[in-house]
Amino acid sequence: MSTGFSGVTELGTITLGVSDLSTWVQFASTVLGMEVVPGESDDIAYLRMDYWHHRIKLLADGSDDLVALSLRLAGVLEFRAMAKVLEAAGVPVRVGTPAEAEARQVLEVMFVSDPNGYPVELFHGPLVQYDLPFHPGRRMHGGFKTALGGFGHIMLNRKADFEAIHTFYTLLGLRGGIEYKMPLPHLPAPVELMFLHCNGRQHTLAFGPPGEKRINHVMTEMERMEDVGLAYDIVARSGIPVIIEPGSHANDQMFSFYFKNPSGFMNEIGWGGRSPTGQSEYFQRDSFGHAPVMPNMKGFMVPA
Ligand SMILES: [Fe+2]
Repeated sequence: MSTGFSGVTELGTITLGVSDLSTWVQFASTVLGMEVVPGESDDIAYLRMDYWHHRIKLLADGSDDLVALSLRLAGVLEFRAMAKVLEAAGVPVRVGTPAEAEARQVLEVMFVSDPNGYPVELFHGPLVQYDLPFHPGRRMHGGFKTALGGFGHIMLNRKADFEAIHTFYTLLGLRGGIEYKMPLPHLPAPVELMFLHCNGRQHTLAFGPPGEKRINHVMTEMERMEDVGLAYDIVARSGIPVIIEPGSHANDQMFSFYFKNPSGFMNEIGWGGRSPTGQSEYFQRDSFGHAPVMPNMKGFMVPA
């Protein structure tokens, strides 16, 4: 890696393919508390969490899965340096046209595929709308904690081996490794989980065991603990399946819980996460809580 190279700075946005856009929009607004902005056509909706044009793009393509993962670079110099680093490493990269960048509300974008075959978009220059302060979809005590930590984290179900995933994302500038070797009932060997960071958020990307979908969960962090409790009450009242009860992770020390979204994978809502420690360590279990709700857990980390 050349001197002065700086890689990915944050999880910028994700595009989710959905089968039921109107249910998702209702869920995002009334359960997650996000602001919904209509898209350019009937099959698109944008979800806002801060001043950015959007943090999540919903695309009614029927896939109920991750369509693309968009990672931010600091600016034009970093964008060009990254393209060179990828080309030198033999990673096929295509720089997007101005129209493709404009359609994503960014200055420039390039497209690569990770070792799992998942589309990764590297961009710089998101559209930030200081004239449009975030307007939550429902009552909230505080806001979403985004800023320099990106909008949250996502865990993906891996298709490639950990070594290939680690090599690729290290090239993009992320750091980290295996942080859990977790014994689970019904499984012969502990489940290994990999966590990668690129800023003050303890992890931005995580990789778990292979699964049916590309994505396992998306986490958004709240500025106030009360909003985790409020979200839990809303989820419970709405009859939405809780998958993992409230608890605290050993690695990011996030107080959080998990529940099923309309696409059948999980949303995690958390508070109080810490920064990366800068040294590798691993855990066998969480600090407290996070008990899986076993009937709802099937298909996630427990075989269906
Ligand atoms: Fe998580």
